[in-house]
Amino acid sequence: MSHVLPRLSAVEGDESSQRSPQGVENKFRPEEFGVHPQSGFFPPQPLQKLPDAFGTWEQLLADARSCLTLNNDCSEEAAAKRPKGELWRNGVRDMPILSVEDLTENTQLQRAHMVLAWILHFFIHSMPQSQEDSQVHVPQSLAIPLVEVSKVLRIAPVATFADTILWNYELIDPILPLTPQNIKYDNLFSGTETERQFYMVSALVELKGTEMLKIFEDFYNLRDYTAPSAVEKIAVDLVQLKKIVGALAEIFRLILTTLDPSIFYWKVRPWWVGAKNTLKKMQWIFDGVPNSAVLDVGGGSAGQSSAMHALDIFLDIDHKLDAERSGRSLQADLSLVERIRQYMPGKHREYLEHMTSIRPTVRDVAQSIPTLVEPYNEAVLALKALRDLHIRTVTLYVASQSRSTPSAGLVLEV
Ligand code: HEM
Repeated sequence: MSHVLPRLSAVEGDESSQRSPQGVENKFRPEEFGVHPQSGFFPPQPLQKLPDAFGTWEQLLADARSCLTLNNDCSEEAAAKRPKGELWRNGVRDMPILSVEDLTENTQLQRAHMVLAWILHFFIHSMPQSQEDSQVHVPQSLAIPLVEVSKVLRIAPVATFADTILWNYELIDPILPLTPQNIKYDNLFSGTETERQFYMVSALVELKGTEMLKIFEDFYNLRDYTAPSAVEKIAVDLVQLKKIVGALAEIFRLILTTLDPSIFYWKVRPWWVGAKNTLKKMQWIFDGVPNSAVLDVGGGSAGQSSAMHALDIFLDIDHKLDAERSGRSLQADLSLVERIRQYMPGKHREYLEHMTSIRPTVRDVAQSIPTLVEPYNEAVLALKALRDLHIRTVTLYVASQSRSTPSAGLVLEV
């Protein structure tokens, strides 16, 4: 291959370089953006439970699974649980309004967001609704602290990828570090193995993704891209990146063997849904919060994984071309990406914005150095294969299921 592949998808940046010609001032330091050298976007240790003063929140989360079912679940088991569910929701309504001001550490704020966001989704999606309802009220005991902590962390006030994957993991052996072999998920909405495996696959993708972050950091910290040693390093790293993306695809394939499409679509996904994602538009009113209609309440998705967005930015994938090919407007496409990023912790979003602003990109460098063309193109093709696999997964687990009959006991959403 003699030329760099047309862009799969590069956010066109401005001309201003963040890097001085010698590259001296612009050291790229992921730690400044809350990105850990070993655990990447994960906190290096599982988040500890909140202090006793916030014990009510922790207790409600711990009790939720045994009391609640989806509001459209008509099974006998669900019917038997309903009285307990009403008591649980009354417990949420009756909580004192606690301020998160007393939580001084970032990891405590993350845990508070995670606990409150999970309570929010448990609360809303378990609450019986009638056909006529177009609004659901989030009681102020939950709404006020959740919005407060979301503002501090600069993240949407709903259960995001961070809440279900990054801040929700536990270690199998607490003495050992976070590795693919030593991670587990016990806090679940549906309690199904399919939900657990979705979190596991997402976490394994994210953990493998930390290897890419080191490659990005090394590239952005190169002083002179044209120096023979730098060119050699970039070539080696691009080959390695291709291998990592290939390994991500292998991990991704686990979805097909470990997740049941029907259970995923009917029993798991509804718990993650936010106000803006439902077929029936249901407005979420956050009582006690001014202007709550403007909050980002789209719900959680693995599309909010910062590692996957960072890969797109590093390879300079062109959303302009993506938009043109699919008939969407560029504005719509870029604003979709920007909207998705509101569901990431603010620091992680800044990490991505910082990456986007750095020039030259690896694509620019590959275009000017012939020996880098092939390794660059190979890495892009590996990403294309991963995306194709993702689209096939979406078809199987979402599009096809939306035309299927719900699992036993569930009624169709209206
Ligand atoms: C059963 C498995 C999965 C299904 C059904 C699925 C479904 C979807 C859907 C419907 C979207 C569109 C937008 C949205 O809802 O946010 C999306 C976007 C996305 N998903 Fe997944 N997903 C799955 C697994 C994963 C995993 C494990 C990852 C990686 C951690 C991932 C990464 C992404 C990314 C980065 C996007 C953003 C848009 C893009 O770049 O194409 N997905 N996914």
